[in-house]
Amino acid sequence: MKALVTGGAGFIGSHVVDAYLDAGHDVAIVDDLSSGRRENLNPKARFHETDICTDALADVFDQEQPEIVCHLAAQMDVTRSVADPRFDARVNVLGLIRLLELSVQHGVKRLIFSSTGGAIYGAAKEYPATEETRPEPMSPYAVSKFSGEEYIKMFGRVHGLRYVILRYTNVFGPRQMPHGECGVCAVLTNLMLAGRQPTLYGFGKPIRDYVYVGDVARANLLASEKGENQTLNISTGRPTTVMDIFNALREVIGFEQDPILKPLRPGEVERSLAVNARAAEALGWTPTVDLLEGLRRTVAAMGR
Ligand SMILES: NC(=O)c1ccc[n+]([C@@H]2O[C@H](COP(=O)([O-])OP(=O)(O)OC[C@H]3O[C@@H](n4cnc5c(N)ncnc54)[C@H](O)[C@@H]3O)[C@@H](O)[C@H]2O)c1
Repeated sequence: MKALVTGGAGFIGSHVVDAYLDAGHDVAIVDDLSSGRRENLNPKARFHETDICTDALADVFDQEQPEIVCHLAAQMDVTRSVADPRFDARVNVLGLIRLLELSVQHGVKRLIFSSTGGAIYGAAKEYPATEETRPEPMSPYAVSKFSGEEYIKMFGRVHGLRYVILRYTNVFGPRQMPHGECGVCAVLTNLMLAGRQPTLYGFGKPIRDYVYVGDVARANLLASEKGENQTLNISTGRPTTVMDIFNALREVIGFEQDPILKPLRPGEVERSLAVNARAAEALGWTPTVDLLEGLRRTVAAMGR
């Protein structure tokens, strides 16, 4: 099938591109390289250096006539979304609407949306979160992703667009940049490889749900055929503290210093965990790479 991957030069998007190509699909990438990198581009895919918020996106659809759209392009830096919520909404809401209109016009068979299980549940009372948990966004980024989900569902109801919404928790793995929504693994890996003492906020106790990027890419591939109009958590359901990551990395890298421990920063949640039973049922998806193995692969990809 012909797949268009927006954000295909980014961390997760580049793995999605690889997964689709490995499965024998024809792939085109749209990316403006604002946070993505040229070296992440798979040379077997056609590349359009295009901002999804511009009219040039229509030319890409005319040329490529995609059957599947995997939408990963986003402003995904929570801190930036707080500082500049209008820019966040421009990319994550207006850019998405343009993509949805073009998908309907071109008869796209399925749109797969990268939403967030890490941010969207925010201050939700239910723990761990299921897809039925009422989102309680704590940042403009989480609001823009949540409203994106609602636009997609509306396009499904009104225009018959078929879609799958994937809510990833904290994704980690090779090619992650130490910025953005959930870069704790990337931040710690970079610091510890450089022999620098990392700071663990919340005294290393905050709980997160770390899912390996290869597993996330596989979920995107499975969603090209399964999970009709569903919203699915893509998570491990396994609680991991920041201290657990530090200790695992200490083992992988052979780091000898202790971390600096500090209180949680404003806006950071103490725990975030999501149940993945629905993805298992709908896609036949379960995570296969655990934290230690994922960190080993991440460090190895950095040449160590
Ligand atoms: N990293 C995580 O843990 C995580 C968790 C949940 C959801 N997500 C979502 O997954 C997706 C990918 O995130 P990532 O971690 O790979 O981030 P990333 O920054 O590496 O990837 C985003 C890509 O989108 C591109 N992009 C940004 N604005 C664009 C625009 N206007 N037009 C075209 N391209 C544009 C960037 O250049 C980049 O290549 C995002 O939608 C993000 O919200 C990520």
